[in-house]
Amino acid sequence: MPATILVVDDESLIRWTLSERLSQDGFTVVEAETAAAALARFGPDIDLVLLDYKLPDSNGLQVLRSMKASDPDVPVILLTAFSSIENAVEAMKQGAYHYANKPFNLDELALVVQKALETTRLRREVKALRAWRAEPYAISRIVGESAPMTSLKALLRKVASSPASTVLLRGESGTGKDLAAKTIHYNSDRAARPFMNITCSALPDTLLESELFGHERGAFTDARQQKIGLLESADGGTVFLDEIGEMVPALQAKLLRVLEEKAFKRVGGTGDVRVDVRVIAATNRDLEEAVRQGRFREDLYYRLNVMQIVLPPLREHASDVPLLVDHYVRLFNLEFRKHARGVTPEAMALLEAYRWPGNIRELRNAVERAMLLAEGEWLTPDLLPVAASPGTATETMELPADGIKLETLERELVAQALRRTGGNQTRAAALLGLNRDQIRYRIEKFGLDKPAPA
Ligand SMILES: Nc1ncnc2c1ncn2[C@@H]1O[C@H](COP(=O)(O)OP(=O)(O)O)[C@@H](O)[C@H]1O
Ligand SMILES: [Mg+2]
Repeated sequence: MPATILVVDDESLIRWTLSERLSQDGFTVVEAETAAAALARFGPDIDLVLLDYKLPDSNGLQVLRSMKASDPDVPVILLTAFSSIENAVEAMKQGAYHYANKPFNLDELALVVQKALETTRLRREVKALRAWRAEPYAISRIVGESAPMTSLKALLRKVASSPASTVLLRGESGTGKDLAAKTIHYNSDRAARPFMNITCSALPDTLLESELFGHERGAFTDARQQKIGLLESADGGTVFLDEIGEMVPALQAKLLRVLEEKAFKRVGGTGDVRVDVRVIAATNRDLEEAVRQGRFREDLYYRLNVMQIVLPPLREHASDVPLLVDHYVRLFNLEFRKHARGVTPEAMALLEAYRWPGNIRELRNAVERAMLLAEGEWLTPDLLPVAASPGTATETMELPADGIKLETLERELVAQALRRTGGNQTRAAALLGLNRDQIRYRIEKFGLDKPAPA
């Protein structure tokens, strides 16, 4: 996008000279004759202002002040016919980027413009990056516009601001359970208090117990000192219990008491410790099955299940794949200082068709790897081995007992490919291993180019 420069001068010859030169340099130039017109035209699309000091309805310093008040980052270069040190000093004080005397040297002025734009570009980039880093768990940072992701985001927002003290996150590995837990915490009124997290399967039972609940001095051989557990240190905040399905029944009972009575005993302790924590539990396991098998307490299951959030597997919101890919290309561009533009249409079709057993984590890793290997600006299919070829679903496709009309199936698959790619014929064709002519022929044959009857 070329930068847009606002040239403000009441002399048409000066406006014309500046416009000619700056347009040649590749900028978009807009002009204003008066202070009023300049302020009316000034807005977020203006990247730099060349401002005459003497205007028919006001003076440049006043215009400069108004512009700086509405956007302090836009560089303003003041032009004046009378050289006066005081004016120059005043202009710089008011935030002018530079001060040039008429008649000015066009080449010099063009250079000042270039430099000013480069400075603001860098400043804006740093600002955007800072804002992004400062708010890593803003709900808006969850990528996805599909129906399941849109309702997921709405639900996360609701749950975050609700007083619900228990949340159960369910979803396959890599669907964003960690991200969802942190998002809930950092968007809740507990955000300023601690977020503590532990993976139940990562520790032996006794260690998990003392990590969670703490222990008293002398509770067991190695307990030389009292230890405050995670639940206690998180008081006022959130505890995230990942892989809750792996917790042993004895601990499940203790946890249930925390959820119901907000109280527990430290290991080896006699008195109750009271805490105010929100517990977010996550699992990729079939908890219902675990309950049936007696490995998971039914009462705890029902208690956790009051507020359940399901993170959909990526293959169920494949229409978000392009957004996610784009997101990670930009992220790794920043991280690796690369300039990749994106993936080619063929590669995108393969990524959309792939089943993503590792979900968003796998997609992130695939893009990261492709970005590291890429030499050109575009990521091509050979860099994305996860999706090397379509047709991975054939083994799950089975001929119905009473058979099927092949043509019906073909029509259905073409229609689905078009729906999935938002009607993009090239990508739909790639999904089916067809070329453009072959898919066009089928679109016509099946009448898929005509609106469906209501
Ligand atoms: N909707 C999303 N938008 C952007 N990144 C996501 C999204 N969901 C997950 N991620 C990213 O995918 C990776 C895996 O997510 P994570 O929360 O660790 O999954 P899980 O805990 O379910 O295994 C992380 O890098 C996370 O930031
Ligand atoms: Mg996780």
